[in-house]
This record gives sequence, structure tokens and C-alpha cells, in this order.
Amino acid sequence: MHENNTTAARLLPGSLSLTDIELIRLGKLIYQRAGIVVNTQKKEMIFNRLSRRVRELKLNTFTAYADLLESHPEQPEWQIFINAMTTNLTSFFREAHHFPILAEHARQRPKDYRVWCTAASTGEEPCSIAITLDQVLGSGLRVWASDIDTDVLAKAQAGIYRFSDIQMLNQTQKRLYFLRGSGHSREYVKVKPALLANIHYQQINLLADSWPLPQPFDAIFCRNVMIYFDFSTQLRLLERFARLLKPGGLLFVGHSEHFSQPTLPLQLRGQSVYERMEVAP
Ligand SMILES: C[S@@+](CC[C@H](N)C(=O)[O-])C[C@H]1O[C@@H](n2cnc3c(N)ncnc32)[C@H](O)[C@@H]1O
Repeated sequence: MHENNTTAARLLPGSLSLTDIELIRLGKLIYQRAGIVVNTQKKEMIFNRLSRRVRELKLNTFTAYADLLESHPEQPEWQIFINAMTTNLTSFFREAHHFPILAEHARQRPKDYRVWCTAASTGEEPCSIAITLDQVLGSGLRVWASDIDTDVLAKAQAGIYRFSDIQMLNQTQKRLYFLRGSGHSREYVKVKPALLANIHYQQINLLADSWPLPQPFDAIFCRNVMIYFDFSTQLRLLERFARLLKPGGLLFVGHSEHFSQPTLPLQLRGQSVYERMEVAP
């Protein structure tokens, strides 16, 4: 009876609902592709993120949407699904204590300092890294920045933000690295081309078997993304990051991401910063 009512309600235009079974199925799909763990508490959030797309496709149920994804593993719809399922919250100089550590590290290392920002979202994090390095190194800085989500990468590459987004920058940083809009665009700023040119954006899924990047790195930022992954994915990533870091290189993680895995050649060096140890031959 209840199921019949639900089915009837679903067929009415605009009355889409997400069942637990559908949530688990969609959760399994995003986990397999992106490593993101979806639990049942996120039901409302997932409904809000996907319902518009399901309606756009004129599908009546989330089951039909899951069927579509499963039966076409290479379809562009997959990217739309992934983009909808990611959480992209970020800001300039987020977890600000990392940036003086990065600056000091870059100052002490030989030339050709390379950084990989692995979950760059809309670009605020790689820009903060590039600004920090520009002030220390002046030239020759190189930041590789990647994300799985193509929508955020497009925004990052455009380099346009609200003026209020850069309020935590000092006047010199605002003047050196941003252009202020005028007229109707007064509330917006654009990253200056010279800074943007130092950041190489590309799409990378952290779950992929290989990452097409010039290695090794002096520093890797992987902040506020591993919280969405399970322990085995986190461990696999940490092992791979450790291999990509030069000895003495730094791994920056998010403030709520703590790792104490004795098998890893990574030693906690400060609050959410790990150093790649020399490994005995
Ligand atoms: C909450 S944001 C964090 C942004 C930034 N690192 C920060 O700390 O401000 C998480 C980002 O991780 C990305 N992400 C999620 N799963 C991913 C995966 N498997 N591979 C690469 N990026 C992923 C999301 O698209 C999102 O932009």
C-alpha cells in the first residue's frame, strides 16, 4: 500500500522522491568512481543535488537515473553526476597556518620548487599557494592543480572571484595579484594573468591508476578531500603521495585529517603537515 502510494506520487510531475535503496545504489556508483563515501544521513543533500538533473532528463525516478549511468559507463552523464556529488567548499588562505610553513620550506629548498594541489576546487587554494611562492621565489614557481570536478576547474581557470572572497589578503597582495572590475563588475576581481600562468590546471581523479604529472614534488596539498574517503583509500593515497614527494618534501592535509601509519615514510612535522623521510636504501 505504502509502496503503491509512493509509486503513484512519483509519477506526478515534480514529485520525485529518493528511497534508501536508490541512495545506496547511487552511493555505490560515486564510491566506485570517485572514492566518495555517501551515508544515509546525506539523503536530503543528495536529493537536492541530483533531483534537478533527474527532472531535466525527464526521468521519473532515481532508479531510472542509476540505470542510465550503469548501462552507459562512458557516457558524459557520468561527469555531470560526479560534479553534482562533490562538495567544493574552499576559500583563499584556508587553514592559514600552512602558508608560512610553505614559504619557509620553499626558501630553504633548491630551485625548481614544485607543488601539486590535488583537490583544487574553484582555485582559491592553488592561488594562495602561488601567491605565497611568488613572494618567496619571485620567479620560476610551478603549481600543478587538479580536481575531479570539471565545473570547478573551469571556474578556477577563469580566475574570477567576488571582491569579498579576497578580503583576508593584505593590500599588497590584492594589488599585485588581482584586477578589480569596474562598473557592473565592481564586486568582482580577476587573478592577474601572470599569476594564473604559473598554475597548471588539469582534471585528475585521485582514484586513477596513474596521475599524468611531472614528478617528484617538493610539496603536495591534499586538504579536505580525504575526509570523504574511507580508510583504505586514504592509506593508498598517502602511500602514493609519499612516493611522489622528494625527501624532505611536505604533505599538507586538512585540519580534521590525522594519520598515524607507522609504515608510511611520513612524519608529522606540525599541525596537519607531514614530512617525507629519507628511506634507507
Ligand atoms: C571540500 S573541497 C576542498 C578544496 C580545497 N582542497 C580546500 O581545502 O579548500 C574537496 C574537493 O575534492 C574534490 N574531489 C573529490 N573527490 C575527488 C577525487 N576522487 N579526485 C580528485 N578530486 C576529488 C572535489 O571535487 C572538491 O573540489
